[in-house]
Parts: sequence; structure tokens; C-alpha cells
Amino acid sequence: DNVILTGIKPTGQIHLGNYIGAIKPALALAKQPNVKPVYFVADAHGLTKIHDAKEFRQLSYGIAATWLALGLDPNKTIFYRQSDIPEIFELNWILANFTSKGLMNRAHAYKAIVESNNEIGNDPDFGVNMGLFTYPILMTADILMFQSKIVPVGKDQIQHVEIARDIAANFNKTYGETFPLPAYQVQEETAVLPGLDGRKMSKSYHNTIPLFTNPATLQKLINKIKTDSLPPEAEKNPKTSILFTLYKEFASPEEVDAMRRQYKEGIGWGEVKKQLFMVMDRYLQEPRERYSELMASPEKIDAILRKGAEQAREYSVPFLKEIKRKIGFYV
Ligand code: TYM
Repeated sequence: DNVILTGIKPTGQIHLGNYIGAIKPALALAKQPNVKPVYFVADAHGLTKIHDAKEFRQLSYGIAATWLALGLDPNKTIFYRQSDIPEIFELNWILANFTSKGLMNRAHAYKAIVESNNEIGNDPDFGVNMGLFTYPILMTADILMFQSKIVPVGKDQIQHVEIARDIAANFNKTYGETFPLPAYQVQEETAVLPGLDGRKMSKSYHNTIPLFTNPATLQKLINKIKTDSLPPEAEKNPKTSILFTLYKEFASPEEVDAMRRQYKEGIGWGEVKKQLFMVMDRYLQEPRERYSELMASPEKIDAILRKGAEQAREYSVPFLKEIKRKIGFYV
């Protein structure tokens, strides 16, 4: 079976970008035949940013509860906390020795920080810890540990998957075929879901719409989404409208057709927002309840993740041994 693997880091509340860009496609892929889904809470990656233990714990539970509330089936999916799999961190070190520093210098996330530091006259590496700098290596270890072939992600993670391919190829070249080269899978239309201000929806831009928030807040945030100033009677282009993109994810096919017609005939943005809120709230009602229930009983989440970690280690323990043998470590 082809391993499909993806993770989300607990650095904030899950937002619509995470859901539409990664979670929804990953859950759909998990239902296909001949695949082994492996999904996880990337808490070790979250540590690059979150240094408050209590907050970190809550955020980690939040990611796990979100996946479960949206229908991840722990009987069909290996679902764990990254920090519960020590083999990943051993592999991380091994792979660091097959990663040139230049490759890390070119990683987008790091480069963006350097650029913004340069703009404001800071030291280029101001605020960069080594966890953040070597982040793509750990992500490579996540992917290669389970010999993943498909990695469903949003566009911002494509470069990381390409880095994983480079590192895997380097290792394979030295020791023989060990890791299949992973491929990213992105949803063309929603590879980058825009946020309230039109830039990429991202925790670091403070422009997100949380997936699970109360209906009143959801409505308020939807009303804040930036639109153009076309008058209600003007024809609107669904292809360039984030409201339409969102509507499509939550409405029935008939509703989507009807909305497309309304865009053609002319509809005010206020009305689109009203209808968007209606379908989103309808769709999210049940998952939101399941989410709250899970967050109220973290021991249930722990039990599921513990079992997932056991399943993951049935795989990672022997595979790491094989890798260690190849490089000449004593096993
Ligand atoms: P993270 O936690 O930043 O985001 C989780 C997933 O959500 C996607 N995403 C988006 N997709 C579309 N539009 C957006 N505006 C948007 N914002 C976020 C991200 O692309 C991602 O798929 N490094 C990863 C976590 C990770 C991982 C892995 C992923 C760690 N190890 C191994 C895959 C495989 C990250 O920071 O994602």
C-alpha cells in the first residue's frame, strides 16, 4: 500500500487554510483503496515557535481533536503525536549529515525571516533558532521514516517535500535504494487559500478564520473578508472570489450551481456572505460539537494517540534498525 502522510504543527488554532488545503484532501485520500494513511500532530515542529508548556499542550490537543472531529478514523489511519516516535529524531540526525547547509539557506521560511530582518536593519538571523533553521530536515525525517509516497499539503509546503526528495536521493545514492522519493499533492484551486486581507491565510499574518469558532464569531469574520467594490447588480467572477471558493467547499452541488448563476446575474457581496455563513455553519455544526466534547476529555485523545504511536513504531523501530545497519552503526 502507498503511504500517504501529512502533519500539522500546533502553533495556533486550525484555520480554513489548513482545513481546505490539507485536512479535507487528506481525509478524502484516506478513503481510497490501497493506501495507508499516516497523519500526525507535528508537535516537535511546533516547538520552534511555542515555548509555553500549557499553551503548547492545549494547542496539540486542538490539532488532534480537529482531525478526529472531522472524521479521521483511527482504526484505518495511523494517527500519532510526532514526539511519541523517538525514531524520527534519530533519523533526523542521520539525515542532517546528508543535507547541505546551502539547501537550508534556500528554504523559503528561513529566507523570508532573513529578508524581513534585512529590511528593518536587524542581524539577518535575528529570532532564528536552530530548530527553525533545520526544520526541513525534521520534516524529511517525518516523511521518510514511513517510506511515504504521497504528501498532501498546501502550496507553502511544496518546497519542503522537494527538499525531502533531495535528501532521500542523496541517501539512496550513497547506500542504495532505501527511501522511495515522496511526491507532494496539492489541490490546484485551493493550494493557497487567501485570508481576510487577501494575503495567504496564515497564523503569522493574523488573517485567519478559525475552523471551529462560535457561530457569531464566524459570521463576524466572514463579514470582514475583503471584496472588491463592484455594485450588487454587476456580474461577478467566481474564479477570483474567495467567497465563492469557500462556498464551494461547504455547499451542495446544487447550491454551488445556483450561486454560480447568481454571480452571473449580479448579487451583492453582503448577500453572498450571508449565504456563505449559512452553509458553513450548517456543515460545521456537528464537527464543532464533537471537537468540544473531545477537548473536554483529553484522556480520550491521549488513548487514541498512544495507540497510534504504538502502530507507528511497529514500523519505525525495525526500519530505523535497517537504516542504522546500512550506515554502519552498531545494531
Ligand atoms: P502547517 O501546520 O503550517 O500547516 C498545515 C497544513 O495546512 C496547509 N496550509 C494551507 N493550505 C492552503 N492555503 C493556506 N492558506 C494554508 N495555510 C496552511 C499547509 O500547507 C499544510 O499542509 N511543516 C508543516 C507540518 C509538517 C508536515 C510534515 C507536513 C511537519 N512534518 C510532514 C507534511 C509532511 C507545517 O508547518 O504545516
